[in-house]
This record gives sequence, structure tokens and C-alpha cells, in this order.
Amino acid sequence: MPVVAVVNQKGGVGKTTVVLGLTSAAAARGIEALVVDLDPQGNASTGLGVFEPTRGIDLVLEQERPGGIRSAVESTGWPHECGRCPLLAASSPDLSVREAQLATDPLGGQDRLQMAMNGSPWPLVLVDCPPSLGLLTINALFAADRVLLVTEPGAWAADGVARMLQTIERIRLRRIDESPRLVGIAINRLGRTRDARYWHEQLSETYPEACLPPIHLRAAVAEAAAQSLPIHGLGSRPGATEAAEEFDVLLDRVLGDETT
Ligand SMILES: Nc1ncnc2c1ncn2[C@@H]1O[C@H](COP(=O)(O)OP(=O)(O)O)[C@@H](O)[C@H]1O
Ligand SMILES: [Mg+2]
Repeated sequence: MPVVAVVNQKGGVGKTTVVLGLTSAAAARGIEALVVDLDPQGNASTGLGVFEPTRGIDLVLEQERPGGIRSAVESTGWPHECGRCPLLAASSPDLSVREAQLATDPLGGQDRLQMAMNGSPWPLVLVDCPPSLGLLTINALFAADRVLLVTEPGAWAADGVARMLQTIERIRLRRIDESPRLVGIAINRLGRTRDARYWHEQLSETYPEACLPPIHLRAAVAEAAAQSLPIHGLGSRPGATEAAEEFDVLLDRVLGDETT
């Protein structure tokens, strides 16, 4: 049961988009994915068609109950034709207050999500992280067994990646099983400009082993999220099929040895 943290301390690089794309690929493949929306902005929740969550992950982080995440899981609004409908543990704006409270826990507030995920039965869990290296992202990294680092091919992206990799390494040193393992670096929003090509090359040269096949910049990707639809369900919209294929490839890499 892979639990995958999707991270970058920078906003706007495509963490949520990649979570939604992977969820769409999983649904099309008949895999029931659970999305944990740890970003107080809640973009993954709305992208899945949940505008007024009935529960949420915030209470789960407060309660400290082993396996407690089950009480936060609800169904999503994606159409049934798109395959196995994903599940959601929704975000709420209260999460940012919770993050500040976790910081005052004398036991350390970094493993609340890990505890809540105890024994979770879903075949794939994707944790959408906020754009910071605060305790919410740290909770995701303590709960995950894999981590997917998302970046865009923009100025100094490699520096941001290096900082995040250091944090991941520090967490691995603290965990008995040395998790989470890096799935790789997903380069998202790759456009056709010389600038994008340059920064893409920089990343590929700096991290030749870790860079994954890129996700290109396509209007259909943003439209799917804005319409709360899976990219695999956009039909003949230009670029939708190509984008869906890129997320299929990324899902293969995320599932790794679990694919048959
Ligand atoms: N591959 C892509 N093609 C087109 N638009 C994209 C792509 N990836 C992300 N976007 C758009 O870029 C913006 C930021 O993406 P988002 O996933 O919200 O980033 P993050 O979660 O890292 O803050 C959103 O408006 C999203 O629709
Ligand atoms: Mg986001």
C-alpha cells in the first residue's frame, strides 16, 4: 500500500495538479486512491469536486487516534464513468492553525498523520502537501513510504530541489525503515520556450538518476482541475489524451515494483 507524499516547499509548481493527474490515472486503471489534502488552500479537494467537505483531516490531526484517518474519508464528485472513484480526506482552512498548534506539542507534532494512517487499507494514498517545509509537510514525510518531488523547469529550481532533498534525508535518518524513498523528481509545466528547456537541462544534469519523464504545460491540464474533472475524462479536448498518457507513465513510476 504505497503512501506517497507529493512535495515542494514552493507554491505553484504543480503539486496539486500532479496529485490530481495521478489520481485520474489510478481511477482509469481501477485503483481506488485516497487523496489526503494537507494544504489549507484545499485545491485538491475542490479539484475532486468536494466543495463543502463533511469531515476533514484537521480533526484527525487533533485527535491522535491510531487509524483515525478512516473517520475523515469521504467520497468525491468525479463522474463514475471515469473508473474507480477516488476517496478524499479533505482540507480545511483550520489546518494552518493546527500547524501552529502542532509546533507547541512537547512530544513533537511530526507523526500525527503517521499514527492516523496506521493500518490504512487503500491500495494507493496520495498526500498533497502545502507549499512550505512546515509541520504539515513534515507530517506527510513521516507518514509516507515514498516521496515525489514536483518542480517546474524555472529559475533556480535545482536549488529548491536540493533543499527539499536535504529535508527528506533528515527524515529518513530518523525513521527506522529509512522511509520515505524518493520516487523521483517530476518536472511539470514543461513548455516550449528556450528558458524552460535550459532549466530542464540543468535539472537533468544535476539529478540524472532522479528526474522522471516530464509533464508538459497544457491548457487541458489546468481546465480539468478547474472543472473538477479527471484529465482522463476530458475526452477529445486537445492535449487531454497526451496529458493523460504522461500521468499514466508517472503512475507506473510511483507504483514501481507494485505494477504487474
Ligand atoms: N502541466 C500543466 N499544464 C498547465 N497548467 C498547469 C500544469 N501544472 C499546473 N498547472 C497550473 O498551474 C497552477 C499551479 O499549479 P498547482 O498544482 O496548484 O501548484 P501547487 O499545488 O504546487 O501550488 C494551477 O493553476 C494549475 O492549473
Ligand atoms: Mg497545491
